[in-house]
Amino acid sequence: MSADVTRSPDSWPPLREELVGVEPYGAPQLDVPVCLNVNENPYPPSRAVVDDIAGAVTLAASTLNRYPDREFTELRTDLAAYLSRDAGFEVAPEQVWAANGSNEAMLQILQAFGGPGRTAISFAPTYSMYPEYARDAMTTWVAGRRHDDFTFDLDEARRLVDEHRPSVILLPSPNNPTGTALPHDVIGELCALMDQPGSAGVVVIDEAYAEFRRAGTPSALELLPQHRNLVVTRTMSKAFALAGARLGYLAAAPELCDALRLVRLPYHLSAVTQAVSRAALRHADELLGRVDELRAERDSTVEWLTAQGFEVAPSDANFVLFGRFPDRAALWQRLLDRGVLIRITGPDGWLRVSIGTPAEMKAFKDALRDVTAEVNT
Ligand SMILES: Cc1ncc(COP(=O)(O)O)c(C=O)c1O
Repeated sequence: MSADVTRSPDSWPPLREELVGVEPYGAPQLDVPVCLNVNENPYPPSRAVVDDIAGAVTLAASTLNRYPDREFTELRTDLAAYLSRDAGFEVAPEQVWAANGSNEAMLQILQAFGGPGRTAISFAPTYSMYPEYARDAMTTWVAGRRHDDFTFDLDEARRLVDEHRPSVILLPSPNNPTGTALPHDVIGELCALMDQPGSAGVVVIDEAYAEFRRAGTPSALELLPQHRNLVVTRTMSKAFALAGARLGYLAAAPELCDALRLVRLPYHLSAVTQAVSRAALRHADELLGRVDELRAERDSTVEWLTAQGFEVAPSDANFVLFGRFPDRAALWQRLLDRGVLIRITGPDGWLRVSIGTPAEMKAFKDALRDVTAEVNT
């Protein structure tokens, strides 16, 4: 879509007012040697995984004259088994829902539990798609603040919940773009605040990066048995190295999952998506096999950036937020000129780098060293 068509309320096409002048969301997709901007897993699937996925797609292809199982029963069963490993209890298939990326799953949550006259809240800096889900589900959006060190400000949360009585709280843990994880007591208190007579709402803990968390950082999945209003979203796009397949999922009380059937489009998960995801889940151990290496690379990147004198946010994810730069766009461009694409995101002055292979991280470090030397001379 050309940018001009959204410029004026009188322009064609006749957009909803709140979409006029808005740019479509998305990081630049550029063909450069070192892509460290969208927190992907840099390791492609092995030959064995590719072959199994291809076999599953071939089988699915022979049934493509029919609509797929709209309840994706087998995939739900496989996802439940996979989640049970991390949850510390047996997750039932009825406690699982899935969609085309966790983005779609969270949009469905807003469609089901938000809507006109209702409010969703989060705490900045945070994932920039959240206000878009709210807008698309005609839900009022309110953003509070985190502490300056990006940790969660529970007093601010209590104040906002009291003032706005939100229907949905959206919180990533680890947070994007800061990498900060939420402690269990914060999640527990938010769930309690949101489950009171006259003020019921759901608390979504977006664990897109949970598999990268450091030892000792818990998963919100463990809290599911205690809170009927807790939703924990996950994705196959990051640690699972399957961003191209578009499969996100969540665990929650069966009634919450059931409610999402009201807003999903018919047969929203194609037979191909279901087959690819199930084949990938059969290779979970292998696909997740590089997570430890990526975590080690993340920790050494944090150390290296700190040693260079940058401010660095401690990270439980596969990216690192660092700064601060008087002109971050200029620095970003200079890195790009050297073939290294990172992301301008977060508070002014900060940049985010995704963790890639050792060779990619070396290219990033070399380029950053050169660029900062240039800027300082
Ligand atoms: C915090 C967070 N949540 C959710 C997503 C969406 O991921 P997907 O739709 O690929 O599952 C992303 C993607 O970058 C993210 O950073």
